[in-house]
Amino acid sequence: MVPLLRRFHRAYMEGEESFVSTLFAFFHHVAAFALVSALAIEFILIGQELSLATARRLVIADAVLGASAAVLLAVGLLRVFFLEKGADYYFHSHAFMTKFSVFIAVALLSIVPTMEFLSWRKELKVGKLPCPGARKLRFIQKIIHGELAAIVIILLCAAIMARGG
Ligand code: HEM
Repeated sequence: MVPLLRRFHRAYMEGEESFVSTLFAFFHHVAAFALVSALAIEFILIGQELSLATARRLVIADAVLGASAAVLLAVGLLRVFFLEKGADYYFHSHAFMTKFSVFIAVALLSIVPTMEFLSWRKELKVGKLPCPGARKLRFIQKIIHGELAAIVIILLCAAIMARGG
C-alpha cells in the first residue's frame, strides 16, 4: 500500500497522467461495485420479514450506499474535469448528460428509503423493532427496485460515453 501511495505521489508531482487516470478509474469501479452491492442487499433484505437483525443490516447497507455514492460523485467529477477526455467532451456527450441526470434522479429518490432507515436508529439502539407498516415497506421496495433498474441505464450510458457517444 505504501509503495503504491509513494508511486501515486511521484506520478502526481511529475504529471504522469495515465497512472493517475488508471488509479481514479479503479476508485470509480470499486465505488460503483460497492454501490450496486449495497443496493442489491437492500432489495433482498426489504423483501424479508422485518426483524432486529434485518433492520440493523438495512441501516448499515444504506450507510454503505450513501458513502459509495458520495465517492462515486467526487471521483466521477474529478475524472470529468481533470482526467480522461476533458469537461468539454463530457458536457457535449448525450450519454454523459443522461448518465449524470439519472444518477442525480436516483440520489434524490434514495432520500425516501434513507429517511425511513435513519428514523429506525433510535428504536434499534434500545433493541426495539421499528414498525413501518407493510404498505410503507412495499413502497420502499419499489423505490429500491427502480434504483436498480436505473443503474442498468447508467451502465449503458457509461459504456457509450467512454467510446465517443
Ligand atoms: C451509479 C453510478 C455510476 C456507475 C455505475 C458508473 C459506472 C461507470 C463505468 C462502468 C465506467 C467505465 C465505462 C467504460 O470504460 O466502458 C464509467 C466511466 C466513467 N464515469 Fe461513471 N459511473 C457512475 C457514476 C458516475 C458519475 C456520477 C460521474 C460523474 C459525475 C461519472 C463519470 C465517469 C467518467 C468521467 C468515466 C470515464 C469515461 C471515459 O473513459 O471517457 N460516473 N462509469
